[in-house]
Amino acid sequence: MKTEAEAIAPSNIAIVKYWGKRNRELNLPLNPSLSISLNEVWVRSRVIFDESLRDDEVWINNLKLEHREVKDYAGRVLEVFRSMVGRRIFAKVESMTNFPSSAGLASSAAGIASITLASNEALGLNLNTKELSKIARIGSGSACRSLFGGFVKWNAGVLDSGEDSFCEEIVPSNHWPELVDVIAIFSEEKKKVSSRTGMESSALSSSLMKCRLDFIQRTFEEVVDAIRKKDQERFFNLTMRHSNSMHAVILDSWPPFFYLNDKSLQVMRWVYEYGKAAYTFDAGPNPHILVLENNASDVVNFLQDLGAKKVIVSKISDGPRVLK
Ligand code: DP6
Repeated sequence: MKTEAEAIAPSNIAIVKYWGKRNRELNLPLNPSLSISLNEVWVRSRVIFDESLRDDEVWINNLKLEHREVKDYAGRVLEVFRSMVGRRIFAKVESMTNFPSSAGLASSAAGIASITLASNEALGLNLNTKELSKIARIGSGSACRSLFGGFVKWNAGVLDSGEDSFCEEIVPSNHWPELVDVIAIFSEEKKKVSSRTGMESSALSSSLMKCRLDFIQRTFEEVVDAIRKKDQERFFNLTMRHSNSMHAVILDSWPPFFYLNDKSLQVMRWVYEYGKAAYTFDAGPNPHILVLENNASDVVNFLQDLGAKKVIVSKISDGPRVLK
């Protein structure tokens, strides 16, 4: 017997970032995070549950993933679905990205979110998005935020079960339609230290981690308020400070590793001096620059002059959807 479905999910860029876990198996975070779902960066996945398969298989852009990678990410999601239906039924997953999957543009987040949504559809489970966000979280933490559109909050939660660690859309995509994310790809090199390994190392070794958690506690609601009031200046400043705060912890981790490179630093300097935009970096050197649409061309020109291989201007996404 075979049953299949297809779904598309947006990537997301974290404003308040997830970096550090209180539980590795369930990807329970040390802090709440907040992201924007991106319309122009997505992953589309077809999930085929097939009784004749003996293991899960995942293909991304027609390349088969190694067994280990399947087990550690998508396999965790598929395992939750198997336990829900009470059947050892494996799946073949075919994912396509519309951007280089190793460029640090959160392909795993969009990929895992699309697989979660397609699996729910294929198995006819009708789970709501909040429940689906908890399942996606187990595959990869940041994926839980890609189950929603607009501005998304991932509640850290306090329970060991993870039942209170889910996402919700706090502000819809049409609230701030002028806001865009300009993403530049300078490097398509696969990162040497994955987010998963990096955040574990930071939690164990960085003495700045505690300061960062305090900073998040003090400023989280202010970020939300700046978004609600469309207070550009406050939103841009807080966005840059939250990015810096995560990368400071990373630089403080031991043994050393870091994600920013000399281009990233040049971007940081230029954006701050420009004054009408904000930079933010996830675990990679490629910048995301938040700016109002009528100023986006200044940013695009700057990035092209700096030698960006590709520049994407993305609006805010409405969220993922099942493809019929
Ligand atoms: C820097 O979600 O990739 O992008 O839960 O171990 O799969 P795992 O980690 P992952 O980490 C993302 C880290 C980040 C910040 C963020 O997106 O919030």
